[in-house]
Amino acid sequence: YFSTSSEKPLAGIKTLVTAGPTHEALDPVRYIANHSSGKQGYAIAQTMQQLGADVTLVSGPTQLSPPQGVNVIKITSAEEMLAACQNALPADIAICAAAVADWRIAEQSEQKIKKKNNEEAPTLNFVQNPDILAILSKPGPKRPGLVIGFAAETEQVTENAISKRERKGCDWILANDVSPETGTFGGDENTLFLIDKSGVDQWHKMTKDAAAKKLSKRIADHLTLNV
Ligand code: CTP
Ligand code: CA
Repeated sequence: YFSTSSEKPLAGIKTLVTAGPTHEALDPVRYIANHSSGKQGYAIAQTMQQLGADVTLVSGPTQLSPPQGVNVIKITSAEEMLAACQNALPADIAICAAAVADWRIAEQSEQKIKKKNNEEAPTLNFVQNPDILAILSKPGPKRPGLVIGFAAETEQVTENAISKRERKGCDWILANDVSPETGTFGGDENTLFLIDKSGVDQWHKMTKDAAAKKLSKRIADHLTLNV
């Protein structure tokens, strides 16, 4: 026999999760994107929901089916993702698992960019996208009590992630090695390091579903210890 509270330790906890890539349009028919599958963020949204949380998932374009019992908001670009996240506030917890495009095209073309005979290839100018995790982490009345980010790194994984956590102002960061040989990006497994203010906790290589369960349990433990 389990009491309701141990089965659903996150009952009533409002959680915002971002997942997937963003697509940044060049013109009406072309975009720039990345290889994120959205699997880790979707798995986290599902396990948080299973522990009783009230979950909003703001998702970029993915091939995944929506997690059961989760409020899914589909967006395309980073700017749309930010607006959807701000709409979802207030929240108790924010988990930014999306691979947000760092840049968008400075001036989108309203019409399809055409090839012209004997002319040079176009030059693309970029501007930086808003940093959703950093914005959600800013101190203020709307800041979720627990803000968690990911750090996708291809070298010096823990060192880079420790400074990334401080730069962004989030509470925890999950660092992952996304070097092509690890198969993390788009794959089914992840090797993560959980970094908080007290240090680094290395997790074994595990499936993205198992990592989602481990993170959700850790969040539930954290909340019960902090009431
Ligand atoms: N992130 C975000 N909005 C952005 C860029 C990143 O919310 N515009 C979030 C990601 O969801 C992730 C964390 O910030 O939780 C770190 O993303 P990452 O790409 O590793 O870090 P960046 O700060 O963009 O630095 P860089 O890509 O240069 O390593
Ligand atoms: Ca980035």
